Amino acid sequence: MNVPHSFSIHARDGAARLGTLAFHRGAVRTPAFMPVGTAATVKAMFPETVRATGADIVLGNTYHLMLRPGAERVAELGGLHRFMNWPRPILTDSGGFQVMSLSSLRKLTEDGVIFRSHLDGSEHRLSPERSVEIQRLLGADITMQLDECVALPCADAEAERAMELSLRWAERSKRAFGSDSSRALFGIVQGGTVPALRLRSAAGLVDIGFDGYAVGGLAVGEPQAVMLETLDVTVPALPADRPRYLMGVGTPEDILLSVMRGIDMFDCVMPTRAGRHGQAYTRRGRINLRNARHADDPRPLDEESDCPAARDYSRAYLHHLIKAGEMLGAMLLTWANVHYYQQLMDGIRAAIAAGRLADHAEAIRRAWAAGDI
Ligand code: GUN
Repeated sequence: MNVPHSFSIHARDGAARLGTLAFHRGAVRTPAFMPVGTAATVKAMFPETVRATGADIVLGNTYHLMLRPGAERVAELGGLHRFMNWPRPILTDSGGFQVMSLSSLRKLTEDGVIFRSHLDGSEHRLSPERSVEIQRLLGADITMQLDECVALPCADAEAERAMELSLRWAERSKRAFGSDSSRALFGIVQGGTVPALRLRSAAGLVDIGFDGYAVGGLAVGEPQAVMLETLDVTVPALPADRPRYLMGVGTPEDILLSVMRGIDMFDCVMPTRAGRHGQAYTRRGRINLRNARHADDPRPLDEESDCPAARDYSRAYLHHLIKAGEMLGAMLLTWANVHYYQQLMDGIRAAIAAGRLADHAEAIRRAWAAGDI
């Protein structure tokens, strides 16, 4: 189906924007949080439940899906949306993050990356062109360019080398993507924490021309203040009429502060991974359900939540499930956390629409600071 995608901005509040990123498979309300579905599943959740929390889009991973079950197989089976029963938009990451996270298992060249599979040791090549091809086989609504994400702190020269390589890969990705207005291709700004490198990266990507712009290479070991300073430099260098995506971020507070700097999209494993490890995110902050103080607590996570997982199960029960290693514990906490993140985004969007984001942010932060008990 060749219905072009589009991005429109409905309201602004300071640097924050309220928008819609529309695809033929559905609309994404921005600012948006994308639950991470690395291996064609948002771990421990049914896709129907993911949708019921309010998610408009989920993220999948080129690297993991090319190894297992294989992009050609997914294409044969009708694409990733059908394969995982998520009929709405999907963004696929390019493999660029795994260049960093699996650095002991890969070799980097100008042409691309050679990975040794973390599953069986077999060798796999990922070039900018192959990454785009895999994402097309998967049927991604948003394709990410292959980039090189470096861990922080790193030497300026190393950040510069990776940024320049990512820029050359951006150009190759754009050429490989061709023209297909039903899908979007996003470029990724790199450059570590060096302002001049971030500006050069952003300008280079804008010259090539992308449907959206991601800020990569953050939340990789630097303090929050450094991440925010990097956004303060980078975001104003990105086109005002295109969506901006901060990759791999973050805590609820990171998200709030980044929206206030003009970011429209986020993804992070935090709500799902933390849920599997016994952590709950709530309006009143984070709760560690592994802690023995919950063993006799009959209260739910949040009696006012409209999420069944947060409202209908006692902390004592959740504590028991997590301590006993029961699957349901991970399922309930993941559900509650993804719901909380979507509620956070919903509140942020409503506040931007009403032009009172600063007050809303203050109220949210007060509730987190007041704590749970
Ligand atoms: N996920 C989090 N950070 C990054 C990044 O810098 N690049 C890519 N491709 N994915 C990411």
